[in-house]
Amino acid sequence: MSTIYFDNAATSWPKPDVVQVAIGHYFGLAGGNPGRSGHRMSIAASQVVEDARDALADLFNVADPAQIVFAKNATEALNLAIYGWLQPGDHAITTSLEHNSVMRPLRHLESKGLELTVINCAADGTLDVEAVRQAFKSNTKLLVTTHGSNVVGTVMPIKQLAEIAHEHDVPYLIDAAQTAGVLPIDVEALGIDILTFTGHKGLYGLTGTGGLYIREGLTLKPLMRGGTGSDSAYEYQPTFLPDIYESGTPNVAGLTGLAAGVNFLLETGIEQVAAHERRLMTRFLDGTRNIRGVTVYGPDDVGIRCGVVSFNIDGLVPSEVALLLDREYSIMCRPGLHCAPRAHHSLGTFPTGTVRFSFGYFNTLAEIDTAVNALRELITVAEQQKVSS
Ligand code: ALA
Repeated sequence: MSTIYFDNAATSWPKPDVVQVAIGHYFGLAGGNPGRSGHRMSIAASQVVEDARDALADLFNVADPAQIVFAKNATEALNLAIYGWLQPGDHAITTSLEHNSVMRPLRHLESKGLELTVINCAADGTLDVEAVRQAFKSNTKLLVTTHGSNVVGTVMPIKQLAEIAHEHDVPYLIDAAQTAGVLPIDVEALGIDILTFTGHKGLYGLTGTGGLYIREGLTLKPLMRGGTGSDSAYEYQPTFLPDIYESGTPNVAGLTGLAAGVNFLLETGIEQVAAHERRLMTRFLDGTRNIRGVTVYGPDDVGIRCGVVSFNIDGLVPSEVALLLDREYSIMCRPGLHCAPRAHHSLGTFPTGTVRFSFGYFNTLAEIDTAVNALRELITVAEQQKVSS
């Protein structure tokens, strides 16, 4: 039985061949410390880091690659954005779909005097844009939302949300952990002020990489201060991008993989990736629509979904379904609450959660068909368990 990997929202697998080749090249020829030593291996390592920055700037239509800042993952990038911008007494607006990487920093700041409004999304994950508009106050300093939910796949109307935020002169931060590399993102056209991404999901890089785009003119308080390889005679943190936010030796091997992953996407074309994931999602939704005993969450319209879908099977708890899918069908997926408890309150699936499939560019329609048949068989398992209990 060959592996069917439907856990791309946790981390993508497989990585494109070019990613593995690039990492081999890094260890062979470019294994120095970037920006520090000045010998040829150090210069080659710097080049790798800047290649990754340039590729991401291309992907997100960022004019100056220095506005792309690297971090170890999306969580660190979100912490930099949230702690770096908000102060006690400020008001922030977010949604119930958020991952704990957004919710926990906000809840922590709330305990220190931040005012927080969480707009509840509907059971399919959609957001009432008017409720967001009504939530702005004179002390509102940030609107932060996911771009695509890691639980249910619902995509937020980010252009509209950016317009509302800007009407109030408030920056808009999007968490693109599930959409970077999966949906087209043009920060200029969409009006995004801060965008956080992870390197190891839709961008096909390695774990331990991520970062953020920061619009020109926005200054955050750095999370860390330390060696940057620049201004070494000076005992204070540099004030220029990206060094102000990038202290310590970066994950160069990881960024090598990330550069290769993003270049793979640029060559393939994001529209093609998005279209393939829409085809996979359509096949899954069509295949499961009429199976009695399977509840699929999220919007029916694949135009407002990324490649993430949650479902439940009557009579089986999500962890049991995931275990059976792994053991009997070699299908890898993630059950439970997906580090987004409030999203499951919106769906009505708290506290047991859901089973989540998350598709990637390397999945096929045949794999979707196999999975749909597996779900049909699991209905029978659930019915047999009911009879024998
Ligand atoms: N945040 C990742 C997920 O949803 C790890 O699985």
